[in-house]
Amino acid sequence: MTPENAAQLLRAGRVVAIPTETVYGLAALATDEAAIHEIFRIKGRPPDNPLIVHVTKEQVDDIAEVSPLARRLIERYWPGPLTLVLPAKEVVPLSARAGLPTVAVRMPSHELTLAVLQMTGPLVAPSANPSGRPSPVTAAHVRLHVPVLDGGPCRVGLESTIIQVAPPRLLRPGAITLEELQEFAPFTTSDAAIAPGMRHRHYSPRTRLVAFEDDAALRAALEEGVAVLTFGAEYPAPMIHARPETLFTALHEIDKGEWKAVYVHLPKAEGIWRAVRNRLEKAAHAIEGRTA
Ligand code: TXA
Ligand code: MG
Repeated sequence: MTPENAAQLLRAGRVVAIPTETVYGLAALATDEAAIHEIFRIKGRPPDNPLIVHVTKEQVDDIAEVSPLARRLIERYWPGPLTLVLPAKEVVPLSARAGLPTVAVRMPSHELTLAVLQMTGPLVAPSANPSGRPSPVTAAHVRLHVPVLDGGPCRVGLESTIIQVAPPRLLRPGAITLEELQEFAPFTTSDAAIAPGMRHRHYSPRTRLVAFEDDAALRAALEEGVAVLTFGAEYPAPMIHARPETLFTALHEIDKGEWKAVYVHLPKAEGIWRAVRNRLEKAAHAIEGRTA
């Protein structure tokens, strides 16, 4: 499939999986209510979880009210893995934004999808995984019955950073870090202010994944049939190696191993590791050693 084929299908009201630098998205025209409904159906996504509208810089003002701070962030980071939550313009269907007065917008950095956007205009696209399962970072990971525009493996491999601009809040950590954003405005994290979609368990492999705050506790708990997901540390157990950009590939692979459980030590929330830690906390079936 070419970007032209994808654009043609989208304009005809179809849902198509598209590549981005973060993860593959399940796309539809942002103005097509029937296609938006189809996305929620295919993903099994709760209707109270809004979608991100993908745009080019030229298209963003048609979709959202862009404040001066938002404009500076867009100039610095687009195309790239930064999603901004801004006041929505009326053209954005309420179903795409779960009834909210705001809309999440981003310009992805992938030449095939940018070519599609030029032909179609704004596209809604949640990650192309069934709700609750790991996000797809290769075309082969997209196991939904939809046409896929194959753009190779995703370079970043973690979903975009999501921010609310006014007041400045980090809603979902990603490759653009809190520390970088704090150079523009006093961005904070807050459990009260998270993206609606981040409230529930997410990204989970079928194999039981147990996250440990304390590495010594993880080592003490190791037993036969358990593997360790590791970002470099060595363990006296079968190891599944990952980096931030291959975390989702590792979460997809875990289920091939027939492990009784997979353990992982939660990294400290700093820089890109804040995003890795966040995805692991959401994916884990249990977290050991968490102080309430
Ligand atoms: O990297 C990404 O962002 C990928 C690629 C495909 O672009 N997309 C993605 O979409 O991760 P999804 O649907 O899996 O996650 C979108 C997140 C959800 O947590 C949702 O709650 C949040 O964005 N969101 C969307 N609109 C929002 C809004 N108006 N206010 C707050 N959060 C919003
Ligand atoms: Mg998702």
